[in-house]
Amino acid sequence: MTHKTAKLILPGSRGNHEQTIELPILHGNLGPDVIDVTSLYTKTGYYTYDPGFMSTGSCSSEICYIDGDKGILLYRGYPIEKLVESYDFMDVTYLLLNSNLPDQQQKNEFVNAINFHTMLHEQVINFFQGFRRDAHPMAIMVGVVGALSSFYHDSLNIHDPIERSLASYRLIAKAPTIAAMAYKYSMGHPFIYPQNHLDYATNFLHMMFAVPTSDYKVNHVLAKAMDRIFILHADHEQNASTSTVRIAGSSGANPFACIAAGVASLWGPAHGGANEAVLNMLHKIGKCKNIPEYIQKAKNKDDPFLLMGFGHRVYKNYDPRAKIMRETCHEVLEALGIKNDPLLDLAIELERIALEDDYFIERKLYPNVDFYSGIIFKAMGIPTSMFTALFAVARTVGWVSHWNEMVADPRQKISRPRQLYTGFKVRRL
Ligand code: CMC
Repeated sequence: MTHKTAKLILPGSRGNHEQTIELPILHGNLGPDVIDVTSLYTKTGYYTYDPGFMSTGSCSSEICYIDGDKGILLYRGYPIEKLVESYDFMDVTYLLLNSNLPDQQQKNEFVNAINFHTMLHEQVINFFQGFRRDAHPMAIMVGVVGALSSFYHDSLNIHDPIERSLASYRLIAKAPTIAAMAYKYSMGHPFIYPQNHLDYATNFLHMMFAVPTSDYKVNHVLAKAMDRIFILHADHEQNASTSTVRIAGSSGANPFACIAAGVASLWGPAHGGANEAVLNMLHKIGKCKNIPEYIQKAKNKDDPFLLMGFGHRVYKNYDPRAKIMRETCHEVLEALGIKNDPLLDLAIELERIALEDDYFIERKLYPNVDFYSGIIFKAMGIPTSMFTALFAVARTVGWVSHWNEMVADPRQKISRPRQLYTGFKVRRL
C-alpha cells in the first residue's frame, strides 16, 4: 500500500528543535492517496488538528466507495444504479456483509436465517409500554435497540465470529419490527407481528399498515419502491452514524449498544433527520411563489435556515441516490394515482431555482438522498416522524457491516482522538 512518502518540516516548539520527518503515503484501490500520520506524535510530539474530519480518513475499509466529484457510489465495487436495477435489499445486505452477491442457494439460506430472527422477545414488546404515546420513533428506536443487549446474552461476545454473526442477523431482522412497532404504538394500534413469507420491504409495510381486523395486501409498486429506498440507504462509508458505531465499538462495546449509538447519531437533522426536515421545510415554504424568499434565507449567513436536502460533505455533484429517488418518487405517485402533488411540484421548482443560483453553484450544493425521500414516504402514508426511523432500518445493514469489519481487524485499536486545549492554564486555588 505504501509507495511514496511526504516530507514534513516542523518548526521548533516547546523545547523541540526544528525537524523534518517523512510520513508514508498510502495508496488505496480507488480515491486519493492518504498520508499516514499514525507515527507523527511519537516521532515529533505534534498532533494533527481536524475537527469534523475534513481531511482525515479514520480507518481503511473495503465496503463502500464514494467519488463525490463524479457522483459515484459503489457497494463492494458495484455501482448503486446497477444494484437497484437488478437486485433486492436482501442481495445487497448479503453483499455488504459478505463481500459478494449471493447465488440462489446462498440467498435462500440467508433469507431464512434473517427471517428466523424477525420477531421480538415478548418482553421487549412490553418495553414499548414505558414510552409516552407521543414519543418520537427515533427515541424509541435508540432505547429498544440498545435494550436488545439485555435480552440476547448469547450474542455479546464480540471475539466470537459466530456470536457476531448472530447479533448482526438479529439487528438486521429486528430493525423493521422495532420501527413498525414504534409507529403502531404511537397510533395506539395493536402490534402486527412479522410475516416471514413476505420479503423484507413488504413485511415492513405490512407491519406498518395491516390491522388485525382485516386482510391487508401491500401494493407491490410501493414494496418495490421501499426495497429500493432500503438499498439506497444501506451504506455510505464513514458517515457520522457509521463512524459513531465504529467509535463506540472500538472500546469493545456490544453490537446492540453500538448500533443504538448509530441510531442516535443518525437522528440529527444534518444527517438522517434531514428527510423529516425537508418535508417540514416544504410545508413551511408552502407555495412556489415563496421559494425566492427561502432561497435568500438559505444564503443569509445570519439566518440559521438551510435548504434541507441540499449539500453533502462528500458529494460535490448530484448525489446518485437522489437521481434514483426522484424517479422512484414519480413511479410511486403514479402507482397511487396522484396526478398532481403540490409538494412534489414545490420540490422540483425549488431544485430548479437552487441549481441555477450562483450561491449553490459555487458551493457545489446539489440535492442529496433526503430531498425526495420524504415526498415518497408521505405519499405512502408514512408519517413524517417515521422518516428517519426508515433510514435507520436500512442503515443498520451498513452499521453492522462496518462494525464486523472493524472488530475482525487485528490492527483495530480504541478510537481516542486528541485535542487542541484552549482552556485555562493551571490555576491556583
Ligand atoms: N443550504 C444553504 N447553504 C448550505 C447548505 C444548505 N443546505 N449546505 C451547505 N451550505 C453552505 C455552507 O453554509 C457553507 O457556506 P460558506 O462556504 O459560505 O460558509 C458551504 O455551503 C459549505 O458547507 P459546509 O457546512 O462546510 O458543508 P459540510 O460538509 O460541513 O456539511 C451538510 C454538509 C450535509 C451537513 C450540509 O450541507 C447541510 O447541513 N445540509 C442540509 C442538511 C441535509 O440535507 N443533510 C443530509 C445529508 S445527506 C444524508 C446523509 O448522509 O445523512
